[in-house]
Amino acid sequence: ARTVSRTPQGAVTVGGLDVRQLAEEFGTPAYFLDESDFRARCRAWRDAFGDEADVFYAGKAFLSRAVVRWLYEEGLNLDVCSQGELTTALAAGMPAERIALHGNNKSTEEIRRAIEAGVGRIVLDSFQEIVRVAHIADRLGRRQPVQIRVTVGVEAHTHEFIATAHEDQKFGIALADGQAAEAVRRVLQLESLELVGIHSHIGSQIFDTSGFEVAAHRVVELLRQVRDEHGVELPEIDLGGGLGIAYTPEDDPREPQEIAKALGAIVTRECEGAGLAVPRLSVEPGRAIAGPTAFTLYEVGTVKPLEGLRTYVSVDGGMSDNIRTALYDAQYTVSLVSRASDAGPMLTRVVGKHCESGDIVVRDAFMPADLAPGDLIAVPATGAYCRSMASNYNHALRPPVVAVRDGEARVIVRRETEADLMSLDVG
Ligand code: LLP
Repeated sequence: ARTVSRTPQGAVTVGGLDVRQLAEEFGTPAYFLDESDFRARCRAWRDAFGDEADVFYAGKAFLSRAVVRWLYEEGLNLDVCSQGELTTALAAGMPAERIALHGNNKSTEEIRRAIEAGVGRIVLDSFQEIVRVAHIADRLGRRQPVQIRVTVGVEAHTHEFIATAHEDQKFGIALADGQAAEAVRRVLQLESLELVGIHSHIGSQIFDTSGFEVAAHRVVELLRQVRDEHGVELPEIDLGGGLGIAYTPEDDPREPQEIAKALGAIVTRECEGAGLAVPRLSVEPGRAIAGPTAFTLYEVGTVKPLEGLRTYVSVDGGMSDNIRTALYDAQYTVSLVSRASDAGPMLTRVVGKHCESGDIVVRDAFMPADLAPGDLIAVPATGAYCRSMASNYNHALRPPVVAVRDGEARVIVRRETEADLMSLDVG
């Protein structure tokens, strides 16, 4: 959140709201999301890419009806990868032609719903899916615009679980061995599919533009091949998402303008070199839009010093509201926000309340030595892949998302209740 300051007593205010009052009103743990910041990031991406390109927000980072409305108003499109995300997008009024459907194993029902709704594109992920989507479109009497997702063979320097363009993983069709060219051949033969472009997504939390440039280069090379073989110039290239954000001061993320400039330049240069009309570019940022806009507010429950090691600070949430530390060894920072403290620093590990020792929120953090039960602490940069990956582990109730704007806070996703939990348990 951008508008952070402190009261004279040292309590943090966010957009003019005191965190102690926020905790009082909405409870903890809770995610607080700065709506103005979210919208400003949407605009930064749109402005960076301009009218010659499309920005599809990746809904998996965090999606709710309010978010869909903000995206719509700020001129963004939306990438969904499940029926649930598609339903949310449509329910909030996103026009279907501004929605793209992704996924490596879309169900027949998901495909049918997407085609019926009239989504702007379906991104094909395998040879079997080409046939499946073609068949369903045919039965519905539609000609569905599609892209083919290719794996360009780039090793993105990120965690193995979130890198996607190397060859030994589940997404896309390899450029290597002429696989992607064969996919193009097959799609072009199918009446019910309209091939509009090639898609590549190389991974996530990436800090340099070189991987995207290599991907762009290889995708343009495929477009040239398609033109030479079929006399068809595909009008679109999508280079996916993946731009990293700062979780800690050591992280040095690229700005949307930098990536737009780098991609625009390379696509234009390579297309001109190949005698191709420059295709319409699109990108799919998720984390870079949602991530920095929210923080999680926790209340400290137990403080346990381990002699000669560190102090374990247990909060009222944990891996059920932020799985990223346990899953990817992600790094976060944390601060005491309910009061000022002049106590010296102590080495802590902020942990949750779940029944396993991997339930870590922040692995290593210096916190004031007088930290005590009842203190409020905040973990920034939790707007992406935290609420969207939250679970009910240990029957935890998933926290609410509260949007803060112009000194007002309103719940956009409410806290789960015991009644919600029990309503699913029908045995
Ligand atoms: N486009 C496609 C096809 C994707 O698969 C993804 C992310 C994105 C766009 C958006 O990537 P972003 O700009 O957010 O990096 N749960 C992991 C991240 C998984 C990303 C999956 N795909 C995490 O918490 O780090």
